[in-house]
Amino acid sequence: MADPESPGRIRQALSWLFSPSARWSIFALLLAGLGVGAAMVVGTQVAVAMTGTDEFCGTACHSHAKFVMPEHQQSAHYANRTGVRAMCVDCHVPHTYPAKLIYKARAGITDALAEMRGVISSQEKFDQERWRLANLVWDEMRDNNSANCRTCHDPAAWDLKKQSEDATKQHKKFSAGKATCIDCHTGVAHKEPEVPKAPVKAAALR
Ligand code: HEC
Ligand code: HEC
Ligand code: HEC
Repeated sequence: MADPESPGRIRQALSWLFSPSARWSIFALLLAGLGVGAAMVVGTQVAVAMTGTDEFCGTACHSHAKFVMPEHQQSAHYANRTGVRAMCVDCHVPHTYPAKLIYKARAGITDALAEMRGVISSQEKFDQERWRLANLVWDEMRDNNSANCRTCHDPAAWDLKKQSEDATKQHKKFSAGKATCIDCHTGVAHKEPEVPKAPVKAAALR
């Protein structure tokens, strides 16, 4: 049987919560509110930083450590002449708020669930799935005009004279809005996946 007193207690607690404070000054309450707000902002930043390293993205999940990270480490985006490194998050996660937090929350949930289900836990499964996964990334990048690439590569700062004839010709298509980076530059941090011979059996990840 339900406790006959409980609705009364809940109502009491609610009325306490919403009644004006007799004990604390407005200033003290404001200060406490600011303190809680600041702690939340700092906490979010710390969490974003901790879950945004190559170490975290590359090793928290076994399948990333086994198949994805080694390829990134072989690419020009990991080690190069000038020592500018593109980390996983530089290419894969939005750079602006609140899009960054929404993306991280969604990817955190779907990727963790998929990892637990072992969607890409073996080389065979990875080979089977990577065409579909790559297409998810390409779609995102096409949709946002390769925004993440352009946080580092700014076409306004291109010295086309210093690029090859082929690059110059093709890059004019970018400024004309006819193509975006990812339309031409796939496989810049990973092995370019092959077009599957048979239709892909999707494991319904997202
Ligand atoms: C964190 C900065 C950063 C981001 C983000 C980034 N790049 Fe790069 N990229 C570089 C640097 C630095 C080099 C030069 C490497 C070298 O010296 O060879 C480079 C080289 C390249 C090259 C020439 C070498 C190669 O691998 O073919 C291409 C093409 C390229 N990037 C395309 C892209 C595309 C497409 C994206 C988005 C998916 C992207 N980059 C995102 C910094 C970045
Ligand atoms: C229409 C196709 C096309 C588009 C769109 C395009 N590129 Fe390129 N890009 C090329 C070609 C072709 C080359 C020359 C071949 C090569 O060096 O691999 C090239 C070369 C490059 C290089 C190497 C330049 C050098 O001299 O070493 C970088 C870096 C690069 N592109 C980045 C980008 C970025 C970033 C974008 C989007 C802002 C972009 N490209 C859009 C076709 C394209
Ligand atoms: C320079 C940009 C760039 C960096 C850095 C980068 N990626 Fe990617 N990633 C891409 C692109 C573009 C694709 C789509 C497939 C392709 O073109 O290679 C992709 C695809 C993927 C895929 C789908 C499977 C596949 O291989 O296509 C996974 C998983 C992934 N990346 C994880 C990571 C992780 C983890 C890191 C860091 C260890 C990382 N990426 C670093 C640009 C990048």
